Amino acid sequence: MLDGYHVLTLTHRDAPLETIGRFMVPADQTGPVLGALKARLGWNELFYLATCNRVMYLFYDQSPVEENIKSRVLNIIRPDMPASEAAQLAGQLRLLHGADAIRHLFEVGGSLDSLVVGEREIIRQLREAYDHSHALGLTGDHIRLLMRFSIETAKEIYSTTAIGEKALSVVALAFSEMQKTVTSKNARILMVGAGQTNALFARFLAKKGFHHVTILNRTPDKAAVLAGTFDHGRAFPLDVLEYWSEGFDALVVCTGSTEPVVTPDVYHSLVAGDKTRKTVVDLSVPNNVDKRMLAEYPVHFIEIEALRATAEQNRSHREHEKTKADTIITRRLYEYRALWHERQVERSLAYIPDEVRAVKERAVQEVYAKDFAQLDPAAQELVMKMLGYMEKKCVAIPIKAAKSIALHALKQQGGRAERSPAIPLERDAGR
Ligand SMILES: NC(=O)c1ccc[n+]([C@@H]2O[C@H](COP(=O)([O-])OP(=O)(O)OC[C@H]3O[C@@H](n4cnc5c(N)ncnc54)[C@H](OP(=O)(O)O)[C@@H]3O)[C@@H](O)[C@H]2O)c1
Repeated sequence: MLDGYHVLTLTHRDAPLETIGRFMVPADQTGPVLGALKARLGWNELFYLATCNRVMYLFYDQSPVEENIKSRVLNIIRPDMPASEAAQLAGQLRLLHGADAIRHLFEVGGSLDSLVVGEREIIRQLREAYDHSHALGLTGDHIRLLMRFSIETAKEIYSTTAIGEKALSVVALAFSEMQKTVTSKNARILMVGAGQTNALFARFLAKKGFHHVTILNRTPDKAAVLAGTFDHGRAFPLDVLEYWSEGFDALVVCTGSTEPVVTPDVYHSLVAGDKTRKTVVDLSVPNNVDKRMLAEYPVHFIEIEALRATAEQNRSHREHEKTKADTIITRRLYEYRALWHERQVERSLAYIPDEVRAVKERAVQEVYAKDFAQLDPAAQELVMKMLGYMEKKCVAIPIKAAKSIALHALKQQGGRAERSPAIPLERDAGR
């Protein structure tokens, strides 16, 4: 039954992010530590996921889970943790069983449980985590089947709801707002500041093919690193700003300065008499562009305050889409139940093909060996063809019948028995 699946987890909902780190296995020790966890607790299979906002130990164990499982896990993964801290941490861990555990995994994959709802990145993280657990020899058929189904479920959520649409980050929003007026990839972009925010903005520029990018920064080396990501990137010290005479199409300003870096005088010299409408992005808090220049010059001005309001609207839009995703998850849970039962039938009858093949070989090599030897080659070929056909049928008939009985029994128990066409049942080929 699905009762064998369990999840032990700590997420951003349960604890501060630094506490989550205490429940992680150090990256260079995952092999021995997770191996010891599985062996000492007698789990059949284990999948381990660690991201910046969650740690998850998903395990398959057919025997009942012990009451003190949380402290036993902590004792194995963090043997040096003081008892008082372990007791406190154990109180924050969440333990989910059966359908609840599976639903949680689907919610994680669909990014319903993420810090940033609708963040598709989780699919890649799930895949990589599965590959890692698989490579460590921790997973088996139950987790393989569930992971494949979870990823299909996540893809369905992203493709049939708008949960991942409408950007939430102010940098992404600022970039798409800038693109409304800066359409040519040859546009001259002048960036002021080379910190994290502008580095992210530069990534968007590079990805979209902008290449005439000049970066000014207080520390020129940092500007040079960023400029190196563009074909025609250039870097200068910040004081060049006051003497800049090459003009620009878009000005992107973001530094940690608490005083305006682009004063009305600086802006006046920057535009160098050019009266055309410019685009100015200011992501600094407080603003680094003195807004008094807006009264004098035609500018498409993009600032953080207005973007925050849009980010908030987009966030509520994504929250709204969670309801649709929930409905998909409920349906997929039923489908997984049916799929899992089918798979167990397949596994329990896995010996049939070998037995049928053995009967065929005995018929040809022992029981009818003399008669067979007297046939001419064409007749022998025909007999082998017919026996091959019979072999295939004899394998398929009992498996089909057993699956149908199992699904009928499942329906009687109240579960919907539709089989998902999206998930192939092929064996794990190492992916
Ligand atoms: N991080 C975010 O998610 C985020 C999002 C939106 C807006 N913001 C705002 O963006 C601004 C920068 O944040 P950040 O995360 O990019 O910071 P950061 O990574 O610490 O970078 C700060 C940048 O500002 C420069 N800088 C700092 N003080 C300066 C000063 N007095 N004069 C001139 N340049 C100065 C630094 O130059 P050096 O390289 O020489 O140190 C560096 O280029 C802040 O106002 C922040 O509130 C941040």
